Amino acid sequence: MSRAVAEGQVPVYDVVGVGFGPSNLALAIALTEHNASGADTVTAHFLECQSGFGWHRGMLIDTATMQVSFLKDLVTMRNPASGFSFLSYLHARGRLVDFINHKNLFPLRVEFHDYFEWAAAKVDDLVSYGTEVLSVKPVLDGEQVAYFDVVARSGGDTVELRARNLVLGTGLRPNLPAGVTASERVWHNSGLLHRVEALRGTDPRRFVVVGAGQSAAEVAALLHDEFPRAEVCAVFSRYGYSPADDSSFANRIFDPEAVDRFYASSEPVKQRLMRYHGATNYSAVDLELIDELYRRVYREKVLGVERLRLFNVSRPAEVTDHGTHVRAVVESLDTAERTELDADAVVYATGYRPADPTPLLGELAAACLRDGDGRLRVERDYRITTGVTLRGGLYLQGGTEHTHGITSSLLSNTAVRVGEILASIVDRKAAAAGRSDYAVSATR
Ligand code: FDA
Repeated sequence: MSRAVAEGQVPVYDVVGVGFGPSNLALAIALTEHNASGADTVTAHFLECQSGFGWHRGMLIDTATMQVSFLKDLVTMRNPASGFSFLSYLHARGRLVDFINHKNLFPLRVEFHDYFEWAAAKVDDLVSYGTEVLSVKPVLDGEQVAYFDVVARSGGDTVELRARNLVLGTGLRPNLPAGVTASERVWHNSGLLHRVEALRGTDPRRFVVVGAGQSAAEVAALLHDEFPRAEVCAVFSRYGYSPADDSSFANRIFDPEAVDRFYASSEPVKQRLMRYHGATNYSAVDLELIDELYRRVYREKVLGVERLRLFNVSRPAEVTDHGTHVRAVVESLDTAERTELDADAVVYATGYRPADPTPLLGELAAACLRDGDGRLRVERDYRITTGVTLRGGLYLQGGTEHTHGITSSLLSNTAVRVGEILASIVDRKAAAAGRSDYAVSATR
């Protein structure tokens, strides 16, 4: 239910951030640097449901590397002189010279996680962990939405924060194909490391891994390594694992300028660009890992013990958890031949989808405008377009691939994006201070 504004009753933050993954962490840093510069202070607080900072912990495989240059860290593209850069982190950890000698743009995933944790610790006062945002209520001043009351659960308590602007950075959710239900033996790869830990000492005999993207290839390699007596059956509809296109010209699709051009493009051009450049990110595997998997398959052929089996041009037609084992019926898409595989687990590495933040918005959700395909309309400054007048904004970090392009759910443009969001918040606040009749239409 909407509320009437009662000025002075509760402190009002300029920004409340929902979620504290890399996107909102980068925003917290941009705000901190803005406030330290002597500019008008922007007050902010972030709410994160995890008990501490955590970035895809289930996939922090020791050997996995980042798929983005370390120069696309939380800050460098916005402020190369920032003290929150990956280079500053390396310096603080005493590894700068070792990293330089490594001659490598792509740090280990565990190392980047440590970098994120290091940066998050430096802005610890801006975030409440263990706090899940449950809902948002509009606070009305006449016809306008003046503030947002953010309701969250922290332990057994309910907490409420009032905000002029909300920044929704709720990230990705594991995607299971329609009809698949997760169980003890049927998982999404997002929980991989915890599941593997639980299986240690149980001598599993077979895994089925569904998918042909980077995660699927990583899962197949890890299970093959960790359980030397187990068979790993990779099932995918492609002919083979295909490489991620990280060539220089294609890489420009991740540039800040590409966001401008994508945003301004017509819908057919947007779709065309996504078709051309999807292989920079989706269903694509690092070439080194493809070579490694191929080496294993070939070696096993020579030795006559095939433990890594590829079911290409195939799909899992039926997957049934029988409690003691899971039966996967794999169907060839070209011959229709069906193979029954009894396995200890079936792992779906079938991608992620952006979390839909609108259920959190309660009655405001109905005011969020959508395009003909039911997708949120989003302004260039990442504000959701609304049918009601908001004094502040509902900003999105993520879930904007259809409007802003492929970097939406990636790290590549994060530093620049948070700079743009902050500039929008600061400009609109200044405009509000200069105009007593301030009521900027949300659709402007
Ligand atoms: P992210 O999902 O990281 O964070 C969202 C946060 O919001 C979470 O901490 C969640 O707990 C919290 N949250 C959600 N709902 C909440 C609520 N109601 N209340 C409170 N908190 C809530 N990209 C890239 O560019 N290079 C790379 O190398 C990789 N590597 C990579 C590996 C793996 C295994 C995955 C799954 C993904 C990547 N990515 C990537 C893409 C990835 O989306 C990106 O790295 C960041 O996670 C995006 O950061 P966000 O903060 O937007 O979301």
